[in-house]
Amino acid sequence: MTTLENIVQYAKAQGFVFQGSELYGGLANTWDYGPLGALLKQNIKKAWIDRFQRQSPYNVLLDSSILLNTEVWKASGHLGGFSDPLTECRSCNMRFRADKLIEEHDKTTSPDGWSNEKMYQYLIDHEVACPNCGKKDFLPIRSFNMMFQTHQGVVLDTASKIYLRPETAQGIFIQFKNIQRTTRRKVPFGVCQVGKSFRNEITPGNFIFRTREFEQMELEFFCKPGTEIEWFKYWKQACMQFLLDLGVNKQDLKFDDHKPEALSHYSNATTDIQYNFPWGFDELWGIASRTDFDLNAHQTHSGENLTYLDPDTNERYLPYVVEPSVGVERLFLMFLSNGLTEETLENGDIRQILKIHPALAPYKAAILPLFRKEHKDLAEKIYADLSKHFDVVYDETQNIGKRYRRQDAIGTYLCITVDHDSEATQTVTVRNRDTMEQERIAITDLRAYIEKTIEF
Ligand code: GAP
Repeated sequence: MTTLENIVQYAKAQGFVFQGSELYGGLANTWDYGPLGALLKQNIKKAWIDRFQRQSPYNVLLDSSILLNTEVWKASGHLGGFSDPLTECRSCNMRFRADKLIEEHDKTTSPDGWSNEKMYQYLIDHEVACPNCGKKDFLPIRSFNMMFQTHQGVVLDTASKIYLRPETAQGIFIQFKNIQRTTRRKVPFGVCQVGKSFRNEITPGNFIFRTREFEQMELEFFCKPGTEIEWFKYWKQACMQFLLDLGVNKQDLKFDDHKPEALSHYSNATTDIQYNFPWGFDELWGIASRTDFDLNAHQTHSGENLTYLDPDTNERYLPYVVEPSVGVERLFLMFLSNGLTEETLENGDIRQILKIHPALAPYKAAILPLFRKEHKDLAEKIYADLSKHFDVVYDETQNIGKRYRRQDAIGTYLCITVDHDSEATQTVTVRNRDTMEQERIAITDLRAYIEKTIEF
């Protein structure tokens, strides 16, 4: 198992993830995605949209605003209740999420659904120690709202106060009517959205696992009341299958079904897909059956009728919602953790490989002229042709062995080498990252060959 430290070092060294604002000493827990990281993120989002929207008979896309009318957050309950239980060590003044302190103290205890008072009593009764200084003396717990505030317009008065969205989901709920009307979709149907969300997390950390700025990929799936548990199971399996199809090791994935007493008040079924991160199993993907809580809240608060009229049965109802919601960065970290490997070659050399599905690999192929002088022209032509369709990279520096190693280390799936026979035969060698096997392929077949590798 790769350690988190190895992943962080690798990500920085190869240009996947850099410390945010590094030039100015950094800004805590912010990260920039370098040339390879930007490609990987883009590929993760593309894979999710391909699977959950493009290939789905049910789902459409939305791209809603980050800034929404404050009434949205009143209706959704975020202004009143989107908070984490904050406590502070009386001795060193470090602040912590009380629920996390309890979970870390005893992994078998789940404080989901506990009141602040109950959590505080637990800290006292179980003599939970401060992870920073070791003292066992915390301040009473208070709820800390996690929404980022800002001001719209030129006057910094209370009327101009607005919030950065803490989830993309509400943007979907408030456009439910417009989407249904314009697409003329019948329930069941779903709406997919990818976009930035912001949460003023008390304890961000574990590299890109929990940050204050992150990207979510959320599906709100609208269905007829009474069918939601069936759809909940359907999307649970679909999410798991997506991960398996992209090569995530089965033994590192599991469902964590929430017990009835731990469910949110609006949910009648919730599960998390957990991944075995370097520090152990932790939440990757939340899947919740949310009943009609959100549409109902917006209907009541806005005064607009959000019910759906079933054209076949003439029934009118508020659809129920099943919501799978995942963070792009959590998937990113999982794919690095799942894929980073080292192999010892016969000559004793170490080969570092990022074993990542070709659909996600930053580069699908590297085009390598065996000798720069002789093979450059044809190699550049192949690069120009393939780059119209795929992310490919051209590399002519150092010997071919070193170039192979470099590409293996960043996950490039194929190495296409132009050699002495290529011009006359119009063929190249294609080397596979994982098996290191090589085959001779006609240049005209390369596009179809790469196309096949990125299917999942
Ligand atoms: N609309 C439902 C919702 O937002 P959530 O469980 O709060 O549910 C869903 O978040 C997913 O978003 C999580 O499972 C995780 O993958 C990602 N996520 C949430 N908070 C995050 C954070 N601070 N940093 C990175 N990813 C986060």
